[in-house]
Amino acid sequence: MSELLKRTHMCGQLNIGNVDEEVTLNGWVAKQRSLGGLIFIDLRDKTGIVQITFDDTIEKEVFERANSLRSEYVIGVRGVVKERSSKNPNIPTGEIEVFARELTVYSESETPPIYVKDDDHVDDNLRLKYRYLDLRKLKMQKNLRLRHNIAKITRDYFDEQGFTEIETPVLIKSTPEGARDYLVPSRVNVGRFYALPQSPQLFKQLLMVGGCDRYMQIAKCFRDEDLRADRQPEFTQIDLEMSFVDQDDVIEMQEGFMKRLFKDLFGKDLQIPFPRITYDEAMERYGSDKPDTRFGFELKCLNQIVEGTSFKVFADAIAAGGDVRGICIEQGSAKFSRKDIDKLTEQTKHYGAKGLVWIRVEEGEIKSSVNKFFDQEQLRRIADVFDASAGDLILIAADRKKVVFDSLGFLRRHIAGLLGLLDDTQYNFLWVTDFPMFEKDDETGELKAMHHPFTNPKAEDIPLLETEPEKVKADAYDIVLNGVELGGGSIRIHDRQLQARMFRALNLTEEECQEKFGFLLEAFKYGTPPHGGLAYGLDRLAMLLAGEQSIRDVIAFPKNQNAQCMVCEAPGTVEEDQLEELGITLR
Ligand code: AMO
Ligand code: AMP
Repeated sequence: MSELLKRTHMCGQLNIGNVDEEVTLNGWVAKQRSLGGLIFIDLRDKTGIVQITFDDTIEKEVFERANSLRSEYVIGVRGVVKERSSKNPNIPTGEIEVFARELTVYSESETPPIYVKDDDHVDDNLRLKYRYLDLRKLKMQKNLRLRHNIAKITRDYFDEQGFTEIETPVLIKSTPEGARDYLVPSRVNVGRFYALPQSPQLFKQLLMVGGCDRYMQIAKCFRDEDLRADRQPEFTQIDLEMSFVDQDDVIEMQEGFMKRLFKDLFGKDLQIPFPRITYDEAMERYGSDKPDTRFGFELKCLNQIVEGTSFKVFADAIAAGGDVRGICIEQGSAKFSRKDIDKLTEQTKHYGAKGLVWIRVEEGEIKSSVNKFFDQEQLRRIADVFDASAGDLILIAADRKKVVFDSLGFLRRHIAGLLGLLDDTQYNFLWVTDFPMFEKDDETGELKAMHHPFTNPKAEDIPLLETEPEKVKADAYDIVLNGVELGGGSIRIHDRQLQARMFRALNLTEEECQEKFGFLLEAFKYGTPPHGGLAYGLDRLAMLLAGEQSIRDVIAFPKNQNAQCMVCEAPGTVEEDQLEELGITLR
């Protein structure tokens, strides 16, 4: 057993003020260099890296041990802090080094399969398999600490606002958030299954019926859906619910929260209230219900201008009730060659677009891919819709509304990325309000709740529930930051009659409602306060505040693209007798 050299300081803490102090440090060898009579070690702990120097004035045996150190050995050193003659301005401890006299090796390391270096680009699955090595990176340590701080500020803020953190169960019946459930078979009740919560939605509403006004929870949620950079099958919500409130109350509470978060984390004064935009306006202007407003390139509708055109692509789209819309990239003409535009067109096809028309606005003749069909005057009129001037590039899509919005919504953000316009030190918050109550299911074509079936329809739209449900707007709102949906919520229905009409509009029979949500409907019989709330994705919030591109970088042990845990290799197979006990046979 090696002797524990009890540490006096963390590696990243030491600075010029510690010169001549004797210090004891513990950590991992990040780097070892031997220069004959001198050995340099970069020693790393979660706070940073500091240079340790061994020279040949120390005991021979210690010097030799230092010479045998390799990357990721875990050691303790004791020595004296000295000012460095050649300073390293790249690291916070770069002005000093520690001249070591004692050295203990706690454990050795085999050659690590990945480098523990912030900027090392390795295969994602390898990173996730050796996550414990990956986590030694200072960037990961910083991210986990940031996440911790967000959670702490969250609890403090909502506590001060009179919220109580209450845990809701994890083994439950299905929740109506629209993704697939993870199911857990019951041994005691053979043939029955629990569902893992997609959110605490139904229980937090029960808490309101239970008089627990102002509930919050940092809650694990589970959704069996296709993964993306901002989605995990298992993720964390900051979940909130309040009684006796309207939409403004919920929104103001959240703006206070964000202000507090930015102040405490970064000393930054956020401007509140945040802008609000309706869903319809967001789609019209940005082609997205989570618009990134850090740059322009707003969508414009060209239907009126191109109506009656002989260009079949446009004419057909309009005749079929679709749209012709475009975006204008200011001074984009020179930045995108013909080949670049072909590539953009190809990428836009993932969103259903069948092509893109381009127009290059110039002082003289306007050039376009549709010169055959449009004369200069018509092209000029299109350019005027965008207030375009010489050097601008206009890209146009024609199709069903949804395809046009999705395609141009993607394009404007993608192009902004290509042009380096996504400044991640800028935080553009936005409330998107007045969501439609219903949307058509892509596969079945049936109406489904866009948020969830407990969302209150707007009072003025209630008469339309039976006649024109697709026109009904809801008291639902999302909070968007830089084009990412950070959170969403709604005012809930607390009237049983209205809830029944909602279920009918969704084509749910009495039996289906009872089976799915009977317990909530039963609770609503006994005095339900008006209530509403919201849930944030904590992972997404941490991702944006850490300036990361993926929520995996703010989760200690995330799943990979195939929803697998690369560390423990879940999901795994189980023993035959475990299945037997559960009454399950595999096909
Ligand atoms: P919603 O389904 O919009 O609402 O979820 C709220 C927020 O949770 C985050 N989120 C996710 N984060 C990572 N991975 C996922 N798979 C994932 N899915 C959702 C998003 C999202 O905005 N019960 C309602 C809230 C309410 O009405 O109060 C709900 O869950 O940031
Ligand atoms: P095509 O008729 O397929 O040869 O297309 C003629 C031009 O129109 C090409 O430059 C296509 O990229 C473009 N185009 C095709 N379909 C669409 C569409 N739905 N919206 C916009 N442009 C399109």
